Amino acid sequence: LPGPEVAAPTGDDVAGLLPRPGAESDKYRRGVVGIAAGSDRYTGAAVLSVGGAVRAGAGMVRFASTAEPVRLVRARWPEAVTTVLDPSSSPDSLLEEVGRVQAWVLGPGLGTGPEAHAVARAVLSSDVPVLVDADGLTLVARDRTLLRRTAPTVLTPHAGELSRLLDVPREQIEAARLDHVRRAAAELGATVLLKGSTTLVAEEHRPVRVNTTGTPWLATGGTGDVLSGITGALLAAGLSGYDAASCAAYIHGLAARIAARGGDGGGARGDARADAGGRAEARYG
Ligand code: APR
Ligand code: MG
Repeated sequence: LPGPEVAAPTGDDVAGLLPRPGAESDKYRRGVVGIAAGSDRYTGAAVLSVGGAVRAGAGMVRFASTAEPVRLVRARWPEAVTTVLDPSSSPDSLLEEVGRVQAWVLGPGLGTGPEAHAVARAVLSSDVPVLVDADGLTLVARDRTLLRRTAPTVLTPHAGELSRLLDVPREQIEAARLDHVRRAAAELGATVLLKGSTTLVAEEHRPVRVNTTGTPWLATGGTGDVLSGITGALLAAGLSGYDAASCAAYIHGLAARIAARGGDGGGARGDARADAGGRAEARYG
């Protein structure tokens, strides 16, 4: 039977899906996430993505990049294990030193040149789930063969990035976001999380999940990079692409609301969405 076409997970739904460490947990079972992000030109996105994964509770974060982002990640997130990639390595051996991970995050600040393409090819040829964001999305829009893979892929575009992925003008996407996120999931064979004031998560044969926990305070450069790390941590913990993306969107929006409230009293009071967030907050607390 066809199910409902859209769904809006509640705080309780999300709390039920989120992994929690138990007595039997160890760092490997909680999930090791690899992050291939940053370049000597764009360093901040990598630091933010690693931070999202660390704070979302990854068992371990393995970070691979060029020298400068590695230096900054080590300074800000000493718990991350880092590898400076050797650009002269073959795509097959490029990530050998990083070691085994249960999921990858690819793209924030990576750049879009030949070296970035080689990193994208190496990451996407792995047999674990991969989240592709930012420059990674530009690379796969240009070379769709990168998406021919055996393990799940999660794409996290904003409307402009989805416009490039589908080769459809941005205005058309903005005018029919639900249709286009569904179409992208079907055409690209991936879970697609479309960012914006409302976030949509689509996967073929599943209802589109709508997230409204966010706040316009998220409309600032770098918040998307944090979301990539949160989602990667949840993928590494074993959630499906669909659950990882929708739970990450929920947590990311709620965290922003809490931060905004701390900053200036927030605009959230009296808002039904904040109430939903408040319940989840109480449960996590
Ligand atoms: N209300 C709620 N949430 C919002 C709103 C809003 N009005 N506007 C944005 N958001 C959320 C999105 O849903 C998403 O989670 O903020 C996040 C923004 O993510 P991105 O669009 O990926 O932005 P980010 O990557 O952080 O910005 C820096 O901008 O020009 C590019 O390439 C540049 O990488 C750089 C990027
Ligand atoms: Mg972004």
